[in-house]
Amino acid sequence: MSLEIIILAAGQGTRMCSTLPKVLHQVAGHSMLSHVIRSARQLKPSRIHIVIGYGADVVHKLLAADDLNFVLQEQQLGTGHATAQATPFISADNVLILYGDVPLIEVRTLRRLLKHLVFGQIGLLTVVLDDPTGYGRIIRDIDGKVVAIVEQKDTCESQRMINEINTGIFAVPANKLANWISRLSNNNVQGEYYVTDVIKMAVSDGWLVATEQPYNSMEVYGVNDRKQLARLERHYQLRAGQHLMAQGVTLLDPARFDVRGEVTVGRDVLIDINVILEGRVIIEDNVVIGPNCIIKDSTLRKGVVVKANSYLEGAVMGEDSEAGPFMRLRFGSVLGARAQVGNFVELKNTYLGEGTKVNHLTYLGDAFIGARTNIGAGTITCNFDGAKKHQTVLGEDVFIGANNSLVAPLRVGDGATTAAGSTINQDVDNFQLGVARASQRNINGWKRPVKTKKT
Ligand code: UD1
Ligand code: CA
Repeated sequence: MSLEIIILAAGQGTRMCSTLPKVLHQVAGHSMLSHVIRSARQLKPSRIHIVIGYGADVVHKLLAADDLNFVLQEQQLGTGHATAQATPFISADNVLILYGDVPLIEVRTLRRLLKHLVFGQIGLLTVVLDDPTGYGRIIRDIDGKVVAIVEQKDTCESQRMINEINTGIFAVPANKLANWISRLSNNNVQGEYYVTDVIKMAVSDGWLVATEQPYNSMEVYGVNDRKQLARLERHYQLRAGQHLMAQGVTLLDPARFDVRGEVTVGRDVLIDINVILEGRVIIEDNVVIGPNCIIKDSTLRKGVVVKANSYLEGAVMGEDSEAGPFMRLRFGSVLGARAQVGNFVELKNTYLGEGTKVNHLTYLGDAFIGARTNIGAGTITCNFDGAKKHQTVLGEDVFIGANNSLVAPLRVGDGATTAAGSTINQDVDNFQLGVARASQRNINGWKRPVKTKKT
């Protein structure tokens, strides 16, 4: 049976107090709507329809993709009206309705819900809450069968006691949905077209509404304000941390650890506090990450040590290499095995050979450096002439003295040495010494200037 999905995402989200449409606010570094889209895609529907309204242009521009059909709901007249904008585009047998502001819904829960369609039933996701205030209540008859959903504002006192609520997520046959939607009225307290009224129509047409519950109530937690957004974020991060711990990672404090992307981990990894992992991060066995590090789109091979306050982006650190504290690896930095990068060092588009050391106060950009080379403190590559970038190539076993300016394009051969304080702008051959500094002169009997006393 074919499936299409409708995601309702047209609301402004007044309580966010924001110019950004609510569904674009982020959880774990991705917009809420993109979380929902990702889960929807895993169900392999033939199409996903997204109903947009407030900030439609921004939402569309940010998330446009071939499998997504964006449908405009010009006026927000209710969830039923929103659904009605999408139903004309549906050609599949079944439809699943999701909400753009309920981002953490799990695919395994949705699969359970969809199963009911196979048995000719409607699948409705409900949850029991200690405090059901604000939500639509699930009304059941004496046999326990669902007969209707009543919105908070339309409830009577006894209905308000019901704590089984509507999550908004449900699965229905497509042709039936279109029919029921066309019969909705806005004759209710809010004067809105409620998609939830579909349930009582289905029941009166003889359909059975089967219910499922999520594994965890946070799966169906909707965000209306920034307090709820923060709560969802913390929930997500705690869960992400637990997931990594289950795979053999020690987190010194799961409450001070954030993942904003996808992380692959090995065993016996140790992560200190306030670490942020972003994008695609691969961490192999026995890696140690110190406190306050940000690691983005990078790979850390076995035994890597990243010390406190380091920032990595688009980097690869080879086996047993070390970096930090206070170090920055920018895009295209590749460290060979056992290489060492120390404090206040910045690397960009630079390869360091095995065992090479760059320990203090250095900038290397567009450089290729052989194995076992030592870069003295305070060295910089002058890789940019104001118009173009140029490469610096250093061989193996090179010794660059402290405080060198390496003016690119430049080659320094294997085993070569440069003197401290040199500005090296000519190639140095294998095993040569390059010296490029003014020679020192000592003057005898030098008299220092003296201050004249004011009278
Ligand atoms: C809705 C349900 C309620 C349920 C609750 C769960 C209805 C009538 N009520 O109430 O039973 O308990 O969700 O969170 O459906 N939207 C549009 N266009 C509109 C109105 C809403 O796209 O005209 C979208 C919103 O962007 C949002 C979703 O639909 O993603 C839900 O709308 P919202 O106004 O938050 O509904 P609730 O009052 O929370
Ligand atoms: Ca809501």
